[in-house]
Amino acid sequence: MIGSVNTVARRPDGSLVGDNVDGQGYLDGLAKDGIDVRSRRVLQFGAGGAGRAVAFSLASAGVGELVIRNRNMGRAVALAQEVIRAYPECVVSASDRGVEEDVREANFIVNTTSQGMGVEDKLLFDYSMLAPHQIVSDIIMVPEMTPLLKAAKDAGCVIALGKRMTEAQYPLVSTLLGIDALPPAPCH
Ligand SMILES: NC(=O)c1ccc[n+]([C@@H]2O[C@H](COP(=O)([O-])OP(=O)(O)OC[C@H]3O[C@@H](n4cnc5c(N)ncnc54)[C@H](OP(=O)(O)O)[C@@H]3O)[C@@H](O)[C@H]2O)c1
Repeated sequence: MIGSVNTVARRPDGSLVGDNVDGQGYLDGLAKDGIDVRSRRVLQFGAGGAGRAVAFSLASAGVGELVIRNRNMGRAVALAQEVIRAYPECVVSASDRGVEEDVREANFIVNTTSQGMGVEDKLLFDYSMLAPHQIVSDIIMVPEMTPLLKAAKDAGCVIALGKRMTEAQYPLVSTLLGIDALPPAPCH
C-alpha cells in the first residue's frame, strides 16, 4: 500500500524480502509516549514516502478523521484516495483550503515533510495558532526539537519527537533481519 520499503532482508535461499516499518514505528513511538490517536482529528502535512506510511498507519489505528495537506496537491489527493480505499471507515481528505482552518479544527497535527530540517525553512503555518489541547508530532529526526515542536511545547501542547519513531523501528527491523538487536545508531 505504501509503495516503498525501508528494510530489506536476505533470506537463507538468497532471495530478498522488503518491508516498511516506518508506519508501525510511528505508532509504536506514539504509544511509548502514551499518545492514543484513536478518534483524533488529524491534520497531516506531507505526502512523501514517510508521509504515506504515517497516513496508512494512522488510518489503521482508528483516527476519526485524517486531513492531508501537501505542497504537491496531486500527491495528497492520490494518498487520500488510496487510504480511503484501504480503510473505508476512516474519513480522509486532501485539503488546499486556508491552512488556518485546518489547524484550528485539528486536535492532532503531524509534520511528515522535511520542512523544519533547515534553519531557513519556511514555517508550515503560523505556529502562534497552536493551542494546549492539540498534540503535535514531527517525524524529523534532526533537529530533535524542530521549530514546530518548540512552538508547540511553548504553547503547552503534548509533543511527540521524530526520534521516537526511529527508535521504535529498531526492534521491528531486528525481527525482520532475524538478528537479536540493532546496535544503537545515530540518525543523520
Ligand atoms: N523519524 C523517522 O523514523 C523518519 C522516517 C522517515 C523519514 N523521516 C523524515 O521525514 C521527512 C520526509 O522524508 P520522506 O522520506 O517522506 O521524504 P520525501 O519522500 O522526499 O517527501 C518529502 C515531503 O516533504 C515535502 N516538502 C519537501 N520540501 C518542501 C518544501 N520546501 N515546502 C513544502 N513541502 C516540502 C514534500 O512535498 P512535495 O510532495 O510537494 O514535494 C513531501 O511531502 C524527512 O525529514 C525525513 O528525515 C523520519
